[in-house]
Parts: sequence; structure tokens; C-alpha cells
Amino acid sequence: MIAATTPFPADFIWGVAASAPQIEGAHDADGKGPSIWDVYCRVPGAVANGDTLDTSIDHYHRYDADFRLMRELGIRNYRLSISWPRIMPDGEGPINQRGIDFYRRILESLHRNGIRPWVNFYHGDLPQSLEEKYGGWPSRRIPEFFSSYCELVVKTYADLVDRWITINEPGSIYANYGLAIGAPGRRESPRIAHQALHHALLAHGHAVAAVRAHGRTGSQVGVVHNPTFTIPAIETSENIEAARKLSHRDIAPLMDPFLKGCYPSWWLDELKENAPQCTESEMKIIGAQCDWFGLNIYSGMYGCVNEAGVPEKVSMPPPYPRSDVSWQCLVPDALYWAVRFTHELYSPGDIHISENGLACKQQFTPAGEVHDVDRIQYLRHCLRSVQRVTAEGYPMKAYFHWTMFDNYEWIDGYSKKFGLVAIRDGSLERVPKLSAKFYQRVIAANAVV
Ligand code: BGC
Repeated sequence: MIAATTPFPADFIWGVAASAPQIEGAHDADGKGPSIWDVYCRVPGAVANGDTLDTSIDHYHRYDADFRLMRELGIRNYRLSISWPRIMPDGEGPINQRGIDFYRRILESLHRNGIRPWVNFYHGDLPQSLEEKYGGWPSRRIPEFFSSYCELVVKTYADLVDRWITINEPGSIYANYGLAIGAPGRRESPRIAHQALHHALLAHGHAVAAVRAHGRTGSQVGVVHNPTFTIPAIETSENIEAARKLSHRDIAPLMDPFLKGCYPSWWLDELKENAPQCTESEMKIIGAQCDWFGLNIYSGMYGCVNEAGVPEKVSMPPPYPRSDVSWQCLVPDALYWAVRFTHELYSPGDIHISENGLACKQQFTPAGEVHDVDRIQYLRHCLRSVQRVTAEGYPMKAYFHWTMFDNYEWIDGYSKKFGLVAIRDGSLERVPKLSAKFYQRVIAANAVV
């Protein structure tokens, strides 16, 4: 048996993350309204192989067994999202009691299995009706409706939930509305796309307020954000300083509003007429104090000081190692530097790695197993990076692996595999991969094994 390295702090939180649209299926069951993804996935050519979210991995009907498996693997924290159109089919107005009942069953099952739910209000699935009627996130009405939805959710489940997440990766709203990447696939002007982004940040602030007003005593709330950090190519003090500067410039436009309650003035000046329209009171809402700051870290860039003494990013063309998705260069040290730079630049308090994972090519052995040694190796390196950051005393409190099950990977459909557990085509049988057993051992040892 390999000796375990230095353990993580005794109260370190190990979890897995997933989202409603990617795993639930049952896209029109029990009164659920369509989301922008239900519509977008039907646009010819929008998603690989024309894959839809209709059935997905059928978590809607299999959640009990899924949570039993989580428990068997020793997973005690699960980040899930609630589907807005399941609760409010039109995003506003009538409430769908069957949707409300479904999440109550889900949450009760998690408790029965000794798993703490970390409930995210939003993971990409805007009710289609809000898109059609008001024009989606570019409309100022959306954060208002979102606020009512969050209040309803917190009031309804406060007895079962004390960990809340406002929005997953609000920054992606810019790509959805400005670059036609992901639902609803619009290519609006930068001005409109920045406004959509601003409204997502405002929605985050409203969600924080809903938890503060209606959450039960001891409730905590945080956001999940996906900035890209530049890390030192070689860890000299000059390169570290260069990487911090390069990172800061990239991350400030979205980190400043959350953590300082304002957009950087240089950014607004650069955007000129494309800058988001915002008021002081909105910025105050956006900058509301959270209980932790969540970072989704899949990749990173390298920086160094060049011969002229200037900080410079290093290009990483193939064959620099990548995963099975082209956007993911493998930079496991990014987890360490992301947490350290976030702490040094913003001191937001507790920091979580709210997502990290790897897309692997996959095949079943003749015995029907999946030996994903690539995921194990990558995960081991990432966790050593997390271990380093905790050992050095940074306030890094949690790691959530993306993801438990192979699932709907947005525009890549079911073709990309991020899960610790494979899903058999047809039967949808759950098959824990070797990496699931690895993660199980890590959790049990509270150390990188
Ligand atoms: C998202 C997930 C996604 C994962 C892998 C994250 O940015 O939150 O929904 O599946 O990355 O692409």
C-alpha cells in the first residue's frame, strides 16, 4: 500500500458537483416548463450528435440509488442545482407543486444517505418563457424574477438546506448572449452581452439577499466563478509577481464586482459605450458579503518575465497536454495558484474549489470496467496542489470534483466524459470507474493517496 501524504485539515470538505439540466432528464415531466437548453439542443447543428437533455442519465427517477452509491463511495457533500423551470414553469407566476415535491424528495434522500446538499439556484437553465417574453438575461426583469424564485426556494427548503450557491459561472452568460456559445446561442452586440452579464451578477446579489433574509440560522452562501489564472512558469519571485499581475488583469472585471462591489474603472473606460449600464445601488447588491468564494478551476496559463523584464504569457500550442476537450490544457498547479492569488488579491475569506475535473476518452474493459488512469493521475496532481495550499495555511476549505456521473456536456452532448462513474448506453446502468475508487480512498484517508 502506498503511504498517504500529509493529511488535509480535519474539517476539509470533500464533495462532488453536478447540475440539474445535465443529469435529470424528465425534461417535460410533472409540469416542468422548457428551459433555454431544452430549446437550443434542438437547433440543428447546435449540439454534437443532436443530443438532447430529454432523458439524460435519468437522475430524475434514479436519484435514490445514485445517492446510495455516493454514500458507498464516502461522499458526504453534494453540489446540485435546482431547475428554475421545474419549480416555476414560466420563470414567473404559477408555482409547480410537483417540481417543489421532487426537490423535497431529493433533499430528503440526501439526508437519509448522510450527504449534505449544497444547493445552487442556477446552472444555465433559464426558463424559455423568460427568453421569449422578455429577451432573456439582457432584460432587467430577469434578476427581479430570479430574486422571487430564490426567495421561494429558500423559504421552501430552509429546513433541509443550509449551504447555498447563487449562480454557476455567471461569466458564461457573456458567451451565451454575445458569442453564440451555448444556449440561447445569440450573437448580440458587446453592449447587450455586457448588460446580460451585469444582470447575472445582479441576480447573484439577489440570491445572497434571499438566503440572508430567509435562510435558517447558520446558513451560508457563496458564488461559483470560473476565472482563468496565469501561474508562474518557474517559481521565482519575479515570475510569481508577473503571474499575479497578469492574473489580476484578467480576473478583475468579474472578481471586483463580487468582492469590491465595483467594476474596475480601467475596464469600463476600455469598454466605452459597450460598458454595462449600472447603478450604485445595484453594485452594492452585487458586492454583498458571501461566506465563501468558489473557484471552478480546470486549466490555467503560464506567465514569466521575458528578457526585457516584462510580464508575458507563455503560449501552449499542442502537443502541450490537453484533455479530451480542446479548451482544457492540463495545469494542475493552477489550483494552488488560483487559491493563493485570490487570497492575496482579494482576501475573500474561505475559498473553495467548487469544480475541477478531466474529460477522458473512455472504454469498457471486456469485464465491463473503466480503468481511467488518466483521470486518476490528473486528479492526484490537482489534489497535491490543493494539499500544498492548505499546508501553507491559505483559507482553502473545500474541494468538489466535477463530476459524479458522465452526463450532458453542453454543446458536446454525451460525447465527453467527466464522470467518476460511467453510464452504460441503453440501460443507463451506473459503473464506478477506477477513479471513483481512488477518490473514495482519498476521502477516507483525508490525504492524497
Ligand atoms: C460547468 C459544468 C461543465 C464543466 C465541464 C463547468 O464550467 O459548470 O457545467 O460541465 O465545466 O465543462
